[in-house]
Amino acid sequence: MTDDQTPAGPAGGTGGAPLPQGVGRTALGVALARAVESARPDRLFDDPYASVFLRAAVAAENGPRAPRGERTEAWAAMAAHLVLRTAYFDDYLLDAVGPDGGCTQVVLLAAGLDARAFRLDWPEGVRLFELDLPEMVDFKERVLAEADARPRVERHVLTADLREDWAGPLRAVGFDPGQPTAWLVEGLLIYLEAADAAALLDRIGELSAPGSRLALVRDGALRRTRELARRDPVMAPATRLWRGGLGRNHAQWLRGRGWLVHEIGERQLRDRYGAERVTEGHGFLLAVRPSPAESAERPRREAARLLVLDPDGSVFLQLHHDAEVGPHWVLPGGGLEPGEAPLAGAVRETVEETGWTDVVTGPELWRWEHDYHHADVGLVRQHEVIFLASAPRRDPIGDLTASFAADGILSCRWFTPKELSEVTEVLWPPTLVPLLEDLRRDGPPAEPIDLGYVPNRQSGTD
Ligand SMILES: C[S@@+](CC[C@H](N)C(=O)[O-])C[C@H]1O[C@@H](n2cnc3c(N)ncnc32)[C@H](O)[C@@H]1O
Repeated sequence: MTDDQTPAGPAGGTGGAPLPQGVGRTALGVALARAVESARPDRLFDDPYASVFLRAAVAAENGPRAPRGERTEAWAAMAAHLVLRTAYFDDYLLDAVGPDGGCTQVVLLAAGLDARAFRLDWPEGVRLFELDLPEMVDFKERVLAEADARPRVERHVLTADLREDWAGPLRAVGFDPGQPTAWLVEGLLIYLEAADAAALLDRIGELSAPGSRLALVRDGALRRTRELARRDPVMAPATRLWRGGLGRNHAQWLRGRGWLVHEIGERQLRDRYGAERVTEGHGFLLAVRPSPAESAERPRREAARLLVLDPDGSVFLQLHHDAEVGPHWVLPGGGLEPGEAPLAGAVRETVEETGWTDVVTGPELWRWEHDYHHADVGLVRQHEVIFLASAPRRDPIGDLTASFAADGILSCRWFTPKELSEVTEVLWPPTLVPLLEDLRRDGPPAEPIDLGYVPNRQSGTD
């Protein structure tokens, strides 16, 4: 960015605070993207403080030198991400503290130059906490004081290195872990080593009362942008500070620690913010801490499925996705209607999901119980009966788009035994591979095998 591109806005001084160096400087890049967006007639948000911070940064460097913002492909991609991220996280936070969210506390970890406390319409009674490194907090607070900025929420600011114990200091300024909290970790994890990122997310979990929420950028959403950035010298001041973050799939990692994780995809974002604002693969994670009542007293759901094998022993499976389990492969079938017999229900559901009306059914093989998050009902404990069946190998028949959408089926396919043994997503039941081996070797069991309750979270699954 050059001087003449500096967005218009109130003048800003630093009141003598030095400009943050190192990782703190990355917050200026975010402010730059927000300032430019705020000047657009079709802006997704208005952050008048972003340009105040930028002007103060220029002043602190005895400028006319403005923060670097050359228009490279990498910067354009990163700026587009920063804008979308800001808009989505604005909405996330306001939803979380709204009547359907119920969060009464907001914690902005590594708040940087985030001015949400000053620019969003917060409901009465919300308390907002901001944490960042001392140098950053010093700069920000002095600039805000100089600009006579007034928060629109009860705001608490504290200095903390988020690689260390920040829970104690947070409680000391009035944070109550017994109240539901909306957490924001925006633009931080990439600057942390894996162990520090894991410790931070664990600490958030420990401090999260039922109903608390956490939002993150979805894994892979930034893959291309980061590749471009790594190759672009203009981005080097930020990229050389990257430490990789958690380094594991965030959604599965969080699910393994008791969060329900909803994935917000490109399509939803396009509907909300406009197609031209959402780059390919973009998405966010919205993690929610279930209430103890929800987890402890799951309603019982009865279901039945068919293990459909072709003459070569391949099995037909459907890929589903839910907030508790994530992506998983299931046999065709589903929930029983009131009074419906399990075999009749399994056949009815299979016809709806495949269009196959000639599947030959056999004996009941297995029963099991497991937990998942049903889109309409919430957390349920499903009691499932599985019957043997056979059919020729073929694709589903007819247009099943509506049925797939209604049942949350993402895709379906046949698996040979070898292909099945290589599946990386969760299988339902999780022991499907050895169960099929036994079935091929010994034939159907004389009595159905009861696998009992099978937990989702098994060691090593994250
Ligand atoms: C890219 S900025 C994002 C700022 C802010 N979340 C936003 O999106 O506007 C990264 C921020 O992380 C902060 N940060 C980096 N490492 C930190 C640490 N170990 N402890 C506290 N803050 C840290 C930096 O000071 C900086 O403000």
